[in-house]
Amino acid sequence: MDLTGKTAIVTGSGRGIGREIALKLAEAGANVVVNDFGIPEPANETVEQIKKLQRQSMVAMGDVSQAADVNRIVDMTVAAYGKLDILVNNAGITRDQLLLRMSDDDWDKVLTVDLKSVFLCTRSALRHMIRQRSGRIISISSIVGIIGNAGQANYASAKAGIIGFTKAIAKEVASRNITVNAVAPGFIDTAMTQQLPEERRQEMANKIPAGYLGTPRDVAEAVAFLASDEARYITGQVLTVDGGISLGKL
Ligand code: NAI
Repeated sequence: MDLTGKTAIVTGSGRGIGREIALKLAEAGANVVVNDFGIPEPANETVEQIKKLQRQSMVAMGDVSQAADVNRIVDMTVAAYGKLDILVNNAGITRDQLLLRMSDDDWDKVLTVDLKSVFLCTRSALRHMIRQRSGRIISISSIVGIIGNAGQANYASAKAGIIGFTKAIAKEVASRNITVNAVAPGFIDTAMTQQLPEERRQEMANKIPAGYLGTPRDVAEAVAFLASDEARYITGQVLTVDGGISLGKL
């Protein structure tokens, strides 16, 4: 997979899966804009690691659930690199709670950060990609958006929403040489899942046919493929990266 000379934005790439995607795209040759929200140190660290790979990189801090921030991030990217080839909508949060205890704020926050951000970033990126007549949009959904999970009604709704959004926009822009796909990871070993008690993590691992949690790298490999020229005829798809867990039990 050769992404030499491509420009990518990866949202929420200060750590976890986002950082690994940013590094993988850079290894494949892309220049990468690292977005994150909150303290800038993690994003700066991702940029340092990309520069060690001899690629160009910069931080574009901002809240991807706010239109003004999103437009600034995309404009900064195009001003610095002259184009935008790959957008990876990775930023996401959880606020787990059983439904009867879920507050309006728990619902709104997760839908805004996990789903509205995908709409805002994609709309902003497409303004440039449609003009260029090329582009790749890859959004990180979750198997929870496909098979559900108790205590995650907000997150499951947002992640399922990403899948519907992906299919609709894939149809809108297919004729412009732009593909729009989603990657649905299963249980991946990151800060998000490290919050869970060790007992629960072991329980999860036992349910995975592969027998272990995935790594951020497993997700990044799938994203890099969908970003490549080789994947030009794949659009509106959801690529599950989950060690087989969504296949269910016999
Ligand atoms: P993480 O919590 O380690 O990293 C998320 C990053 O997004 C953080 O750097 C955070 O600062 C950033 N972020 C949060 N809100 C933001 C905002 N409003 N604007 C910009 N950046 C923001 O999470 P992880 O595990 O790396 O997950 C990445 C994506 O993969 C998320 O969309 C998550 O839902 C998804 N995912 C994760 C799975 C897992 O098992 N870890 C499984 C399935 C999907």
